[in-house]
Amino acid sequence: MNLKKPIDVLVAESAESGEGTLKRTLSSTSLIALGIGAIIGAGLFSLTGIAAAEHAGPAVTLSFILAAVGCAFAGLCYAEFASMIPVAGSAYTYSYATMGEFMAWIIGWDLVLEYALGAATVGVSWSGYFNKLLHEFGLEMPLYLTKSFAEVDGGGINLPAVIIVSLLSLLLMRGTKESATLNNFLVIVKVAVVLLFIALGWKFINPANHTPYIPKNTGVYGEFGISGIAAGAALVFFAFIGFDAVSTAAQEAKNPQKGMPIGILGSLVICTILYILFAHVMTGLVPFSVFKGDASPAATAFKVTGYTWLQMGLIIAILAGYTSVILVMLMGQSRVFYTMSKDGLLPKFFGSIHAKFRTPYKTNLFFMVFVSVFAGFVPVTDLGHMVSIGTLFAFSLVCIGVMILRKTDPDRERPFKTPLVPLVPILGVIVCVYLMYSLPWEAWVRLAIWMALGVVIYYFYGKKNSVLGKKQSENS
Ligand code: ALA
Repeated sequence: MNLKKPIDVLVAESAESGEGTLKRTLSSTSLIALGIGAIIGAGLFSLTGIAAAEHAGPAVTLSFILAAVGCAFAGLCYAEFASMIPVAGSAYTYSYATMGEFMAWIIGWDLVLEYALGAATVGVSWSGYFNKLLHEFGLEMPLYLTKSFAEVDGGGINLPAVIIVSLLSLLLMRGTKESATLNNFLVIVKVAVVLLFIALGWKFINPANHTPYIPKNTGVYGEFGISGIAAGAALVFFAFIGFDAVSTAAQEAKNPQKGMPIGILGSLVICTILYILFAHVMTGLVPFSVFKGDASPAATAFKVTGYTWLQMGLIIAILAGYTSVILVMLMGQSRVFYTMSKDGLLPKFFGSIHAKFRTPYKTNLFFMVFVSVFAGFVPVTDLGHMVSIGTLFAFSLVCIGVMILRKTDPDRERPFKTPLVPLVPILGVIVCVYLMYSLPWEAWVRLAIWMALGVVIYYFYGKKNSVLGKKQSENS
């Protein structure tokens, strides 16, 4: 039997308040900040250069536009769901209402790849910049403490990555409001730096670096030309991951019907504009071939401006930016598991709320360890591919879910409506599947293994303990 959770029940549950529930503390501005918090990070500061050097040249700006259009399709679908079913579980919850318990479990399990591994990926990038900062101060940490043994010979554990993940997990246990306050501050810092980079760099743009804007294809698919723009889009897609994290906080939003669409779409629009301008300036400062193999291209490009005193500031701001991505990803992850536990699909452990701080502290603790293991020992590219494939899978299911619910429950009030259904969701699925297709086969194999593990757990645990399942069998 495929159990579907009635939307009225979902909404009623989300309206509960008091002890044992999450607290509604987030305003629309905080929600936009949450989105920007999760979005601007390693994708912009590290991948833009690689996408330009290896795939698109100055036309990496067009790669950003292409990736943004794909995300906008999914974002519009997320916004409809999040305003209609403002419950903490995001895509997991939407699937529960539209495609049934099994698909909901699949998507909830899949979101671990996006949020938990997303936090781990950016944790590793954070560590890279942190070591760069130490280096500026003339300090070096030994290799066996800064890189995983799986990444380099002589490596051991990526300790800075483990430390930042642990500190932020502890903060999340302390309180959502405290975490949101830190996030707001970090977002201001990173947006200020992006704006400063654009404003100061603009007059140093050398038009020669932008000519030709779309370099000729080398004859190999994905190396410049139109196919290069598409390949660049698959890479910089990572830079947009996170706007959906806003929807995991639906149960903590003061006015979710309005706040959810504003948070999701607002953060997406703001980041897209910033990304295009940033990439335009970056490729204008130096010839794009300079960025080959460079993990910190923003710093490399910025040197041309001669504002050397700002270099250190740039690194610190980038660290701040990465910190907020990790924070929001960890938060999103704990909210998804919290909701799954409330539904009985995961043990009660994940749903318990701290009596004083009103946060799902045990889940935070669990993911502090889980994410630390990945951040400490797994190479960053493997992590990044897993995050992208997991996210694209979730986005596709959300797009499909919107179409299903329009058919099965057409009269329900939708505070925000996705325009042009079914065109927009269908285009969303097409773009997501296309981007998944461009990822390496190893990522597909790992996705299959992770999902198979999920299916086994569902049959041995979730199916038997599902709250909805128990209710239905009592009634029948
Ligand atoms: N979008 C996030 C980043 O670029 C995951 O770091």
